[in-house]
Amino acid sequence: MIEAMNARILPGDDPEALAAAADAIRAGDPVAFPTETVYGLGANALDPLAVARVFEAKDRPSFDPLIVHIAAVGELKSYDDLVDPRVERLAARFWPGPLTLVLRKRALIPGIVTAGLDTVGLRVPDHPVALRLIAASGRPIAAPSANRFGGLSPTRAEHVQRQLGDRIGLILDGGPTRIGVESTVVLLAGGRRTLLRPGGLPVEEIEAEIGPLEVEPGAALADDARGRHAHEQPARSPGRMTAHYAPGVPLVIVPPEIPVAVAPGERVGLLAASAAGRERAEALGARFAAVEVPAPDGDPLPLAAGLFEALHRLDAAELDRIVAQPVPEVGLGRAIMDRLRRAAAGSDSSGTGGAGQPKR
Ligand code: TXA
Ligand code: MG
Repeated sequence: MIEAMNARILPGDDPEALAAAADAIRAGDPVAFPTETVYGLGANALDPLAVARVFEAKDRPSFDPLIVHIAAVGELKSYDDLVDPRVERLAARFWPGPLTLVLRKRALIPGIVTAGLDTVGLRVPDHPVALRLIAASGRPIAAPSANRFGGLSPTRAEHVQRQLGDRIGLILDGGPTRIGVESTVVLLAGGRRTLLRPGGLPVEEIEAEIGPLEVEPGAALADDARGRHAHEQPARSPGRMTAHYAPGVPLVIVPPEIPVAVAPGERVGLLAASAAGRERAEALGARFAAVEVPAPDGDPLPLAAGLFEALHRLDAAELDRIVAQPVPEVGLGRAIMDRLRRAAAGSDSSGTGGAGQPKR
C-alpha cells in the first residue's frame, strides 16, 4: 500500500536538505534527485525493499531493470570483477557523464535491481547534487527516471512533483537538467558491444573509443508502455519498449514540408525542430494552438535539453494532438528521434498504446 504523501521540494545545494535526503536513502525511502540527464528516483541499491518502493511509486513493471549510480570510476571494481579494458577505457573517458555501461552483475546487487538479469547497468552521473547524495548516503543509488512508468521523463523538480508528488517524500531541486535526454546504454557484458538505448552521449563518441557497436535486432520488445502485453520474462534490453516517454495526447512525427491539416476547433500543438521548421509548417497553412521551439537554430544540443520540457508544456496545453518535426539521426539526433518515436507509439490513440498521463 502506498500512503498518500506530499513531496517536499528542497534545494539540492543546501547541506541540510542533502543530509535529510541521505538519511532517507539510508532509511530505505526513495528520494528524487537531479542528474545531468533527467531527474532520477533513487533508492539504496543494496536494499531490495527500498528498491521495491521505487518500482511501486512509478508503477514500473518488475521486468525493467534499474541503473545503479555510483560516485566515482574507482567504485567500478566492486561491481565488475572481470574488468574489461573497454570498460576501463569508456569509464575513464566519459564518466562522470551520460553513459550507462551494462556489465556482469555481482552477487551484492539484489536481483530486484536488475530484474533478475545477470547484468547490471552502472553509471557515474555528472551532477554535483547526485554525486553528493551518493557520497553522503554512502550507498550506491539505484534510480530510474523519476516519472510514472511510460510517462515523460522529468527535467525539472516540478515535473517530478506532478507525476510522483503524492507518492514520495522528498525531491532535491537542482534546476533544469543540462542534457535533457537519458544516458546512452551500452551492453559490454560477455564480450558484447551493443547499443541498448541511444542517449545523451552520442554513439559516434563511443565508437571512436572502442569501435563499432551492434544495435540490438528486434529492439522493440514490448508493445505497451504499461506492460499489458509485455512478457513477464526478463529480456536483455527491457527498456527498449516501443511505447515510452509518452505525453497524454497523440503525438505524430511530421516533416515540415508536409502540410498539417487542422480541423476547425481542433487544438494542435507543434514541437518544431527549428525556427525555420516552424515557419515552414505555418507557411503551409497550419494554425497551431501552441508552439514549442527549443532550438531556434536547429542545434541538437538545446533541442535535446529542451525536448521533455517542451513536451511537458504541450501536454499541459489541453491539445487534441501534438505534431513533432523530425531531426537528422546523427549524434544527439539519434536520442531525440528515439524519444519522439516512443512518444508517438506510447501516445497512440488507436487503443493499445497506454497514454503516459498520470492517473489521478
Ligand atoms: O540518464 C539516465 O539514464 C537516467 C538517470 C536518472 O540516470 N535514468 C534512466 O533510468 O533513464 P530508466 O530506468 O528510466 O532507464 C534505464 C534503462 C532502461 O531502458 C533499462 O531497461 C536499461 O536502462 N537497463 C538498466 N539495466 C539494464 C541491464 N542490466 N540490462 C539491460 N538494460 C538495462
Ligand atoms: Mg525512464
